[in-house]
Amino acid sequence: MSASVLFERRGNLALVTVNNPPVNALGQSVREGLLEAFRAAEADAQVEAVVLLCTGSTFMAGADIKEFGKPPQAPSLPEVVNAIEACAKPSVAVIHGSALGGGLEVALACHYRIARNDARVGLPEVKLGLLPGAGGTQRLPRLAGVAKALEMIVGGAPISATEAQRHGILDELFDGDLLAAGSAFAQRLLAEGRGVRRSGEQPVADAGEAAALLDAKRAEIHQRMPGLFSPLRCVAALEAAVQLPLAEGLERERELFRECLASPQRAALVHAFFAERQAGKVVGLAADTPTRAIASAAVIGGGTMGVGIALCFANAGIPVKLLEIDQTALERALQRARDTYAASVKRGSLSEADMARRLALLDGVTDYAALAEADVVVEAVFENLEVKRQVFERLDAVCKPGAILASNTSSLDLDAIAAFTARPQDVVGLHFFSPANVMRLLEVVRGAQTSDTVLATAMALGKRLKKVAVVVGVCDGFVGNRMVFQYGRESEFLLEEGATPEQVDGALRAFGMAMGPCAMRDLSGLDIGLAIRNRQRQSLPPQFPLPRVLDKLCEAGLLGQKSGAGFYRYPEGSRTPQPNPALAPLLEAASRERGIARRSLDDRYIVERCLFALVNEGAKILEEGIAQRASDIDLIYLNGYGFPAHRGGPMFHADQLGLDKVLARIREFHAEHGAWWQPAPLLERLAAEGRQFSDWEAGQ
Ligand code: CAA
Ligand code: NAI
Repeated sequence: MSASVLFERRGNLALVTVNNPPVNALGQSVREGLLEAFRAAEADAQVEAVVLLCTGSTFMAGADIKEFGKPPQAPSLPEVVNAIEACAKPSVAVIHGSALGGGLEVALACHYRIARNDARVGLPEVKLGLLPGAGGTQRLPRLAGVAKALEMIVGGAPISATEAQRHGILDELFDGDLLAAGSAFAQRLLAEGRGVRRSGEQPVADAGEAAALLDAKRAEIHQRMPGLFSPLRCVAALEAAVQLPLAEGLERERELFRECLASPQRAALVHAFFAERQAGKVVGLAADTPTRAIASAAVIGGGTMGVGIALCFANAGIPVKLLEIDQTALERALQRARDTYAASVKRGSLSEADMARRLALLDGVTDYAALAEADVVVEAVFENLEVKRQVFERLDAVCKPGAILASNTSSLDLDAIAAFTARPQDVVGLHFFSPANVMRLLEVVRGAQTSDTVLATAMALGKRLKKVAVVVGVCDGFVGNRMVFQYGRESEFLLEEGATPEQVDGALRAFGMAMGPCAMRDLSGLDIGLAIRNRQRQSLPPQFPLPRVLDKLCEAGLLGQKSGAGFYRYPEGSRTPQPNPALAPLLEAASRERGIARRSLDDRYIVERCLFALVNEGAKILEEGIAQRASDIDLIYLNGYGFPAHRGGPMFHADQLGLDKVLARIREFHAEHGAWWQPAPLLERLAAEGRQFSDWEAGQ
């Protein structure tokens, strides 16, 4: 029998135990072992019922994602699942941790399901560009109805055991030992004469309403997730559950599953899944690097970022002191914190009790002495090196030895900041993104002297704050903003060459970006960075011109949403962009000044100009070692810049297009537009060698 699945007969019960750390994924050896175990149970005359459970921290968390895209190995999961359901002896799945994807499908094939109170169940395949391909789309609606199945399969979010029980997915909940609960349940089944009960043989309860539910979900998908491949196929599979007998429904599900499996979106989403896990592995840092305990925190500066960062700590249950320059500024900051929580309560995403608990963890102060015992301090004061110097000198004087001193700077030199202290090894960058309490991305900036312990602690803290933490090196803008500068610049050049904001934003949104660059500029304020641009203009050599269009708009008082108009108009405080008739003459003037005859540009050209600017800079960042690996850059773009997950991130997208093709276009842009487009040497080298960003590692 397979080493990953143990079979044991105890009295009249067969105990089938899956043991495949870390998450009991349904790899080939587990599938084979399950098949053999259920066959053995069937064949053993003394076995009256089967109890299926898992070792470790979780029930089966799904198919083995590492096997996707590789040649299939028998037995297939549907074969295993069908054999489990067909078993002539009643079976009970005992769930703890997470029963996800293929794991839940195995449980649905068992004749009964019980779960520990804290368990979760779900079919998250859609998040990997797939659909549940082992009967999940056919069995779940038979147990829970089409409405709930649509919600779980198209949405992909797991639900609690309590909710699952309410919807007929689970039979009972328990606390305590898995084996004891499973055995007791099985004996009770036998005593009560409850035998085999196959999910697949049950009718779909709400079949009468199915047509309307399926149509409504399709309409929602067209509106909210245009261009996504798998959600519509999830709906088609559920339609099959309603309209076809089980065997035909399963066949249809399989066809749709194969279509998803072959789609580039599936490859991109699986890439994103592993990118997130990979980011936690820091180059040069041993897995057992010790971390420091973080029991309390402090934030300096209660502005836009500081308040959001303080909320992150409070949300994670970590007491946090928020320091401002004076009582008035402090009261303003605390009021913003209260308002943010109150808005969440109003929206229904936070309870009054939780708000009170979190606010109690937030303590406003104006005296640095209050920070003496903080384990970590995050500075979020004005972006000015002199102000940062004053703050870090104070911190160095008051903070206890071993406290981590972090800066949220977005563009200043972290090593210069570290040098303001006598403990540069304890200084690290924690670059949050606005709004800090919402955005998942956290760039963890490793300074020249940041110690391994501090870096490891910062990464662990990121996880506790529920962030996607990615290590980056010190340079202007780190990874995300350094790249977005190139992207923004190209989008502005395109406006000067002949495109409209509607066209630029439309083309990039059609590609999948959450927001177009012009609407994004309007949101953050066109005057943001004006001073930096002016400085850059003076320092950049003449072959690196900067677009003029933003300056033109600012001169005309068009500052974006805050002034009621920018690239678009926002009448009466509306946040929905509308065409701005005042824009055309400004764009024309900007074109004239640069001596450009405006021309019509097609959408593909627009997308390539903006995206390949990201890719070329990303290649430089990789080669300089500012990012550890291409998938880290992808993760930053997926979580901080609205890059569509189904494209996998800019570097993955370039790999999929083929680096030779990307380089060829970049060379054309270089010939057409000059020095900004000098191809990155790493891109040239990888393209020449027929390699990809994904197989590049520093030093190779
Ligand atoms: N296959 C292979 N490896 C997996 C995996 C899977 N389904 N799920 C997790 N892992 C690996 C991770 O890559 C990670 O490996 P490393 O330590 O080598 O990096 C390790 O397990 C631990 O994972 P996490 O760091 O994510 O651990 P966690 O405790 O934070 O979360 C979890 C655990 C909730 C199970 C989370 O890992 C998760 O959501 N996994 C994916 C679940 C999923 O999407 N399942 C559906 C698969 S598709 C499917 O089943 C298709 C089908 O119907 C045929
Ligand atoms: P902000 O101007 O909104 O807030 C700064 C706050 O710091 C003000 O409330 C001010 O009173 C306070 N402050 C100034 N000097 C202080 C001192 N010596 N002691 C205590 N408090 C002091 O600025 P914002 O936008 O919050 O930015 C803060 C930092 O975060 C900057 O370094 C910025 O570059 C960085 N950042 C900003 C992002 C953004 O989107 N706004 C995103 C990521 C990083």
